[in-house]
This record gives sequence, C-alpha cells and structure tokens, in this order.
Amino acid sequence: MTRRSALLILEAVELLTSNRDLDRFRASSGDVVLIPTMGALHAGHESLVRKGVELARGRGICMVWVFVNPTQFNDPADYARYPKTLQADVDLCTRAGAAAVFAPSAPDIYPPNQQIPVPSLPEQATRPGLEDAHRPGHFAGVCQVVLRFFDLIRPRCAVFGEKDWQQLQVVRAMTKRDRPEIEIVGMPTVREPDGLAMSSRNRFLAPGDRQKALAISRALVGAGRVKTPAEAEAAMRSTLRDAGVETEYAVVRDAATLLAPATGALRALIAARLGAVRLIDNVLWPSI
Ligand code: PAF
Repeated sequence: MTRRSALLILEAVELLTSNRDLDRFRASSGDVVLIPTMGALHAGHESLVRKGVELARGRGICMVWVFVNPTQFNDPADYARYPKTLQADVDLCTRAGAAAVFAPSAPDIYPPNQQIPVPSLPEQATRPGLEDAHRPGHFAGVCQVVLRFFDLIRPRCAVFGEKDWQQLQVVRAMTKRDRPEIEIVGMPTVREPDGLAMSSRNRFLAPGDRQKALAISRALVGAGRVKTPAEAEAAMRSTLRDAGVETEYAVVRDAATLLAPATGALRALIAARLGAVRLIDNVLWPSI
C-alpha cells in the first residue's frame, strides 16, 4: 500500500502476523536489524527503529517485533492491561522507515505442543536488590522470548533501549554466550520535555501521579552530583520519599556487572511505584 500526500510518499511496512508470513518474508529480506518491542510504541521506540533503519541501510532491512510476552509478567493484571495499539505501532514503524513489523500470535511463539527452552540466566539477572527481587521470573521470560525471536528471525543485530538497563546487560551477556554472531546495540533513553523517561506505562499514571513521577528523574539527576555511591543512594531515597513515591530500589551499581560499585563505569538505577504503575529509570553515575 502506498499512501500519498502533497509532501510525503510512505511505503507502508509489511505486517507479518504469523511464522508462515515471516518465513515467506525472510526468504528475500537479506540481513535483518531487529527492534524487539511489546508494542504501544512511543518516541523512545521510534528512536530505536530509526537507529535500526540506519544500521540496516545498504545491507538489509529493519524489522520491528511487536509481542506482549506472557512469560515475563509476574502480575497477571499487569499483563491483562498492557496496552495493545497495533495500528498505531504500524504507522509509527512506517514513518520511521522500517521494512516489516512481525506481530505473531502467542501460539506462534509458544506452540501448545512444543516446549520453548528457557536459557540459563546470566548472573546480571539475579543481582540482589534489583529487578529479580521485585519481579521474580521476569528475566527468565525475557531471555526465553528473546532467544525464541532470535532463532525465528536470525537477525544480524538487535537494538534495545537503555531505559531497561538491567535487561540490556542480561540480553548482552546471554547473546554473547548463546548467539555470539548477533550484535546487541543499546540506545539512550528518550525523555519527555520535563524529564520523565518515556514508557508505555506512563499512560496509566493518574494526573497527580504523573507530576509525582518527575521525582524519579529529579532523584537521578540530583544523585549525580553527590560524592559517594552511598550518599547518592540516600539522596535518591529521600527525594522519592519527599515526593510521596514508593521506592523499590534506588541504587548505584557497576554498569556492566550490576554488582555494588567497585571501579569503572557506574549507573544509578531506580524502580518506583505510583499506585498500580511501576516505573524504572537510570543514568550514568556520577553525572559531573
Ligand atoms: O523491553 C521490552 O519491551 C521487552 O522486555 C522485550 C525485550 C521486547 C521482550 O519481550
């Protein structure tokens, strides 16, 4: 389908909704740069897609995967209400220049008569006090679905957002160990003008909580200016507490291993709850 306007001619992306569609498309697509997503795409995802299009230029195509993966949710209510906006996602991918959107059904990814393996978890997945402490089983589901999609699509490269910093380190470690031929590229977090990290979950924030949520980026920026990791952690917790935001963790860790800081690059990471909405964010530490 070609859509025309006075200024714009957009070739719509190919929408692939089954493994059969994917096989047909893959036969002629060449190298794939893959953008893994659960849909409900926003400007943060758009930056990943644009990066994918740039990396694919002259060598292949950029494909976006859209799949709300049931195995990585430990809260059934969170899974049930995860936003599904496929038509808008396809439009965004078209604008950003992707060649294909792969949006399969759950039975395509987890056929009832097939056991889809769960890879062993890299040690970054189970560092105490981070995601695993609050979302047990989450990274097992993430690793399972990432490997499944890698094996169905066989990409040359995959682009992930840095907002899910721990996920990026887990996927990097797993891919290096299990599919070393695939390159993992990380992309900086995209923020709203007031600093809130873009997330598909932001739409669920109550108006008052949207304002309170700004304490997360404020805490990260403030922590970047203090001298020691311990002071930074205390400063983040107090900024969040003063704003009435429930903190799951507010820590400074080694950026790659996610262990408590030693030397080298460090990252300040926060997970917080506002009502039923859980948000995460992180920045390089220290920032100055
Ligand atoms: O970051 C996400 O959106 C998901 O965890 C991913 C990587 C697409 C796996 O479902």
